[in-house]
Amino acid sequence: MSNDALGIIRQAAAGNAVTPEAKHQAGGMGTRLQGQGFQDIIYGNWGKAHRPEAKRGKFADEAVARRDAIAKLLPGERLIIPAGIPKTRVNDIDFQPFRIGTAFAHLTGLGEGHKADSVLVISPTVNDDGTVGHHDVLYIEPPIDRTDPRFYSDNKHGEFWTGPQPTLADFETMTGIETRDRTELEDALRADAGPDGIRLRLCREVDANVDALVDAIRVDLGLGGADDNAGIDEVFQERLSEIRLIKSPLEIEEMRRSVRATLRAFDRIADLLPIARQVKRGERLLEVVFTGTARYEGHVVAGIPAVASGKRSGILHYEDNIGPLEDGGLVLIDGGGELNSLYTADITRTFPVGGKFTDLQRRLYQAVLDSADAAIAAANKPGAVYHDMIDAVMVSVAHSLEKLGILPVSAEEALKPDGHQQYRWLYHGTGHMMGLDCHDSHHARNEFYPDSEFKPGMVFTLEPGLYFDAADLLVPEEYRGIGVRLEDDLLVTDSGEVVILSDGVPRSPEDIEAWMAEHGPERYIA
Ligand code: GLY
Ligand code: MN
Ligand code: MN
Repeated sequence: MSNDALGIIRQAAAGNAVTPEAKHQAGGMGTRLQGQGFQDIIYGNWGKAHRPEAKRGKFADEAVARRDAIAKLLPGERLIIPAGIPKTRVNDIDFQPFRIGTAFAHLTGLGEGHKADSVLVISPTVNDDGTVGHHDVLYIEPPIDRTDPRFYSDNKHGEFWTGPQPTLADFETMTGIETRDRTELEDALRADAGPDGIRLRLCREVDANVDALVDAIRVDLGLGGADDNAGIDEVFQERLSEIRLIKSPLEIEEMRRSVRATLRAFDRIADLLPIARQVKRGERLLEVVFTGTARYEGHVVAGIPAVASGKRSGILHYEDNIGPLEDGGLVLIDGGGELNSLYTADITRTFPVGGKFTDLQRRLYQAVLDSADAAIAAANKPGAVYHDMIDAVMVSVAHSLEKLGILPVSAEEALKPDGHQQYRWLYHGTGHMMGLDCHDSHHARNEFYPDSEFKPGMVFTLEPGLYFDAADLLVPEEYRGIGVRLEDDLLVTDSGEVVILSDGVPRSPEDIEAWMAEHGPERYIA
């Protein structure tokens, strides 16, 4: 920008206010509530709060073993795991729904509804036999008493606004973890910490207030700043991810439930597809059906579902979901329901909007299905590692693209290390671990996944696709603007077999057509 232009811009900004006008009162009660009459009436004549009875959580017992596992991996250290805080949208309205951080959920066994601002601290102890153990404490914002003005004025924590909240004792009942007032957190973090004492490890970027607190304590105690500790905290993330890789029988049962709930969302979609075809924003209607079913069945969706019809199905991460359903085209739907326990599923199906695949659509769909089946077969070979499954997708897709006459080189050439031409039509990763997150164990080291052998209790997705961009000049015109993805949720059983959990929504073109024919709005109402 020229100096003249900058001068004009500076002059335009010269008179702008630089300090806010204090005591802005838009919509709030604020100082209007200082009247003596209000002060006299507000504190008295309340009965006892009706608190729901606290119960030990379904995962509380397993969470004991999980805390043991992480403490054993990083013995002699103080491990800090915040629940997180909601992101403010405006004033006292947050982006909703709030969801506690995954590591916190895993290590406490808590799920939906619990509880911003909480922090789990696992501190080292010395056992009677001289070995190192750990003592765990949960720090929460306890309910505020009715005699405290914050009961009425604190719209985040005051029960006048939030309704009855669990007490410290309730948290102890739900988790079995000793629970204290959050105001004691700082002293607890400082106790015996320092270069010659206990080191702090933080699960970062979950609660900015805790990040700032720990950074300040570390600097103050000579433990270094955030940069000095970045590696230490990253290792913590890796270990936290790795202890979630193998699911217990109870977790597997929960994930089967989340898959079943997601299958019901697909059922509802198939029921209402004929109506969605008739409205302007058919994609959005199906998104709402999916999301509403997931919310009804559990907590929420694990992410905005993709509902991509017509040429939008060729867009890898389309999630505007704003277009109509295109007659004669496909609609690709990718989503998963997260249960109250926060365990989730992640399933994609691609349907013909009119209920019948065209020959071309069927060929492309079959190519994707073949790649998924080839990958499952590869996963079930003795000694297979996770990555073999992903590689098998690419081998199958390269050969299918060769057969379709699309690949500009032979499949053999494309599969050489300096080939990879097939990635133009399948650019994304084709699987990930799943559990308390849609992409669970994301920070695990490669030797745990993707380079590890399949281990009983692993649950993951397999999600090959083929995407022909609407502007792709390398493919015949009739292919342009078609995308197909097939995503299933897979489990390694006790015997080591890799099985599909999500085949309750049909996978083959024939089964999809039959399934769509069975569904309709009448069934939704019934
Ligand atoms: N849509 C993201 C995923 O399936 O992993
Ligand atoms: Mn998905
Ligand atoms: Mn996925």
